[in-house]
Amino acid sequence: MRRPLGLTVSRHILDSQRLHPDASGELSGLLNELIVVCKTISAEVNMAGLAAIIGLSGKKNVQDEEVQKLDEFAHLTLVNRMARCGYLCVMSSEEEEEVIEVEPNFEGNYVLAFDPLDGSSNIDVNVSIGSIFSIHKRRSTSGPGSSADLLQPGHAQVAAGYVLYGSSTMLVLTTGDGVHGFTLDPNVGEFYLSHANIKVPERSTYLSINEGNKQSWLPQVQAFFEMLTQQDEEKQRPYSSRYIGSLVADFHRNLLSGGLFAYPRNTKDPELFQGKLRLLYEAAPLAMIIEQAGGRAITDDGRNILDIEPESLHQRVPLIIGSKLDVDDAEEYFTR
Ligand code: AHG
Ligand code: MN
Ligand code: MN
Repeated sequence: MRRPLGLTVSRHILDSQRLHPDASGELSGLLNELIVVCKTISAEVNMAGLAAIIGLSGKKNVQDEEVQKLDEFAHLTLVNRMARCGYLCVMSSEEEEEVIEVEPNFEGNYVLAFDPLDGSSNIDVNVSIGSIFSIHKRRSTSGPGSSADLLQPGHAQVAAGYVLYGSSTMLVLTTGDGVHGFTLDPNVGEFYLSHANIKVPERSTYLSINEGNKQSWLPQVQAFFEMLTQQDEEKQRPYSSRYIGSLVADFHRNLLSGGLFAYPRNTKDPELFQGKLRLLYEAAPLAMIIEQAGGRAITDDGRNILDIEPESLHQRVPLIIGSKLDVDDAEEYFTR
């Protein structure tokens, strides 16, 4: 008996393009290239445990190369392939200080910012990690792009997403028409639509935060999270903790089950006074996804993440993100 095959992500991207009759197909091409890179990273991540064993035994891999660090592999795979995809004018990666130029004569109309491997402290312990990406249209008109093309607010993103390398590999993508999730069938090498039109539960009872830092948060931030841990049966408090330390994994769980993730500023550490997470590579893309899914993302002083005008590529930002009503409550406390 013939069974109907699921919708592939490439099919989904082409179908979404039809909704925009003026679309040139460039964004679809760009997304498809990016997906190929993420499949390559996924294959490498799946081999990581084994590679470590091979590495420990002093052997090299089949190509006779030394085993490479996974975050470096992810970064280089993205840079090398995307620099020649023909749809970008400039890129930026969490792993590189300066902007990344594309191959001359391969310039296109978009810019890409990415965190090649988020949750890198979890690589060696076999816990979910991911790649996060953010896409804008270029601001300049032609030739090579510059940092000015990358320094755009989150609300100007045309697409954002992440690939989670977990118990299965999943792509979560938005191009401004809702959020859709695709699961990789490793035997076929295709992402199939598995989670159409994801909506985050409006209210949750889960909290993802590194509580070890609580003495260093702003007083009103401390008060809010303290309140969530107090007994209140009617409001289903205390909230339950869920924190693994891979933003992409913590975020993904909250997106599907409802939850509030927070990484507030650390008032006692000058390096973390603007928060820990990066605006361009982490906060802005996840903020676009959560808003498209019906949630919200703000800073710990009540600013909307998507409204922030970036001033530098690696700018950090305090991030409070998740179920809408929980972020509403946080905002009310933070702006008292
Ligand atoms: P990255 O691995 O890309 O450097 O990001 C790490 C981030 C993020 O994934 C996570 O939410 C956060 O660091 C965890 O920080 P703490 O260990 O300070 O809680
Ligand atoms: Mn990260
Ligand atoms: Mn990273």
